[in-house]
Amino acid sequence: MRTRAYRHPLNGSSMPPGRPLLRVSDLTLRFGGVTALAEVGMSVDSGRIHAIIGPNGAGKSSLLNCISGLYRPTGGEVVLHTDSGQERRLTSLPPNRVARLGVARSFQNIELFEHLTVLENMMLGRHIHMRQNVLSAMLWLGPARRQEITHREVVEEVIDLLKLQAYRQKPVGTLAYGIQKRVELGRALAMQPALLLLDEPMAGMNAEEKEDMARYILDVHELAGVSIVLIEHDMNVVMDISDRVTVLDFGRVIGDGTPAEVMENPRVVEAYLGAGAAS
Ligand SMILES: Nc1ncnc2c1ncn2[C@@H]1O[C@H](COP(=O)(O)OP(=O)(O)OP(=O)(O)O)[C@@H](O)[C@H]1O
Ligand SMILES: [Mg+2]
Repeated sequence: MRTRAYRHPLNGSSMPPGRPLLRVSDLTLRFGGVTALAEVGMSVDSGRIHAIIGPNGAGKSSLLNCISGLYRPTGGEVVLHTDSGQERRLTSLPPNRVARLGVARSFQNIELFEHLTVLENMMLGRHIHMRQNVLSAMLWLGPARRQEITHREVVEEVIDLLKLQAYRQKPVGTLAYGIQKRVELGRALAMQPALLLLDEPMAGMNAEEKEDMARYILDVHELAGVSIVLIEHDMNVVMDISDRVTVLDFGRVIGDGTPAEVMENPRVVEAYLGAGAAS
């Protein structure tokens, strides 16, 4: 197997770009009478930005929730390819196990601890890698201390990459919305993921904030080489930054391909024109 000479410290995978990383097949999810996902299939390659688009209620967040273990699908499977060439079935695993296998995520609504600082929130993002118990960490014993230093180094790397230096000691609740969304991205990145799942990281932002966030996502992709699955409504952003797009409508995949391909797909155009009046 080929190995890369250099791997960015924030990238949890050493897989060369363009290899199959995640496979979703035949995924179905029902809530009572509601079919949120119907036989959804999708493949994500390493080192790519893969967008998931679709009208409100199409099943985008549900798909991310099934991948990250928050929802248990009614049928089908999600498989992650690891660096060592193994296939790991994620479908029946709880969220913490999925996270430990290298899949990190951000949420559609900000899920940070408002009263804690940026630094503290990011250190909490490292919890999946913490081996020492809380007591030894509090007593500042040798191994816990060494570990703390490593965690701090990773977090500082994230703060540098996302240019959050000025905010590191500020309680998250006091920061502007756009910065809080960046901290959310940072908390997920601090897990050194092999795959980053971002649920509408630009939701509720003005044009300038969106442009900033798009730039940071591109930096994570280009500088750190992290593979990204991104849910986004803004078609300009999707066209600009994604390598591949999967389109959902009423829980079904109605298009898949490069941004240019899906924009020419009549089913996609129809779904968007149909939703245009509502959203
Ligand atoms: N926990 C849940 N319980 C019941 N129904 C749910 C649940 N989560 C999602 N759904 C339903 O599944 C469908 C898909 O919802 P989902 O949130 O995945 O859509 P979405 O594409 O992310 O929409 P949006 O663009 O508004 O975020 C909707 O009909 C929704 O009401
Ligand atoms: Mg959603």
